[in-house]
Amino acid sequence: MIDDKKVLFSGMQSTGNLTLGNYLGALKNWVSLSDEYECFYSVVDMHSITVRQDPAELRKRARSLLTLYIAAGLDPKKNCIYYQSHVSGHAELAWILNCFTYMGELNRMTQFKDKAAKHADNINAGLFTYPVLMAADILLYQADVVPVGKDQLQHLEITRDIAQRFNGIYGDVFTIPEPYVGKSGARIMSLQDPSKKMSKSDENQNASIYLMDDPDTIIRKFKRAVTDSEACVRYCEEQPGIRNLIDIYCACNDVKPEDVEKEFDGKGYGDFKMAVGESVVSVLKPLQERYEQLSKDKAYLDSIIKENAEKAQYYSNKTLRKVQKKIGFPERIR
Ligand code: TYM
Repeated sequence: MIDDKKVLFSGMQSTGNLTLGNYLGALKNWVSLSDEYECFYSVVDMHSITVRQDPAELRKRARSLLTLYIAAGLDPKKNCIYYQSHVSGHAELAWILNCFTYMGELNRMTQFKDKAAKHADNINAGLFTYPVLMAADILLYQADVVPVGKDQLQHLEITRDIAQRFNGIYGDVFTIPEPYVGKSGARIMSLQDPSKKMSKSDENQNASIYLMDDPDTIIRKFKRAVTDSEACVRYCEEQPGIRNLIDIYCACNDVKPEDVEKEFDGKGYGDFKMAVGESVVSVLKPLQERYEQLSKDKAYLDSIIKENAEKAQYYSNKTLRKVQKKIGFPERIR
């Protein structure tokens, strides 16, 4: 709790171009929850280096992601929006938690298996202990709730396990966090292969909608989206392409799949795809405009970056000192 408010933590990696999946699965919910909680939203640039990055590009993307958080509607005066690498406590707590995490647990992580297969020439230890750094992110702020897409639920589960293990030994040190998954949009799939999640790293540009895509590109990508030959807008397992488009439509318009089935009863896929494309354009356009404006204001962004890093450092130190004391590190002499 901070000032009687429960705490929320979440983050995104500053790699690649953000997709509609990142927005509907996470960012959109962050905005809707931001009044209710004391929020920490991190640009997790330390996680990004588990895969090789070009330094200049990484720096640019981190700033662009931070700007996007604000453009999406998060008020940086109320929400702590900061770079993970500016707060040393993340790495410090991660080291400690590494000593309370088992190899067997980490071996089960599907994201590790996927990434190791994709980057077979660089299966580094950071990639393996990635979930421990993520646990440190969350536990450092004593977060009650963590809004994420479905693909991150396994990481949330291991975070809870580590926290419970630690608390079991040292008493109530960490708050046990709960995941928050939105009703729609928690798993947006590729537009070209609805059995795969929409991902920043997909090589097929038509598979993902990027947050900075212009309206024509968005409409074109939806027109080309893979569907089936049933020719009716129905929300079911057998029509994964249409199901995904319905999910997107629902998340953009805050409606339920039944409403969409009714609205498009008797209409063909062409009409429906167009409507989905237009809904996405109307969600992304204002965000893109705010992003363009904000990016120009260097002094404002710099001040946000500085203030919020200090705030995050302050709260994270509170937990870190407590943990260090519990495990028996010597006291600091003042
Ligand atoms: P990342 O950067 O891959 O994704 C950021 C957020 O977007 C969600 N997401 C999706 N949701 C629905 N459909 C999709 N196709 C889709 N793709 C991505 C993710 O679930 C996530 O919520 N490990 C995390 C970053 C992280 C983090 C944390 C998150 C580091 N520390 C602490 C929460 C709390 C990651 O790689 O997310």
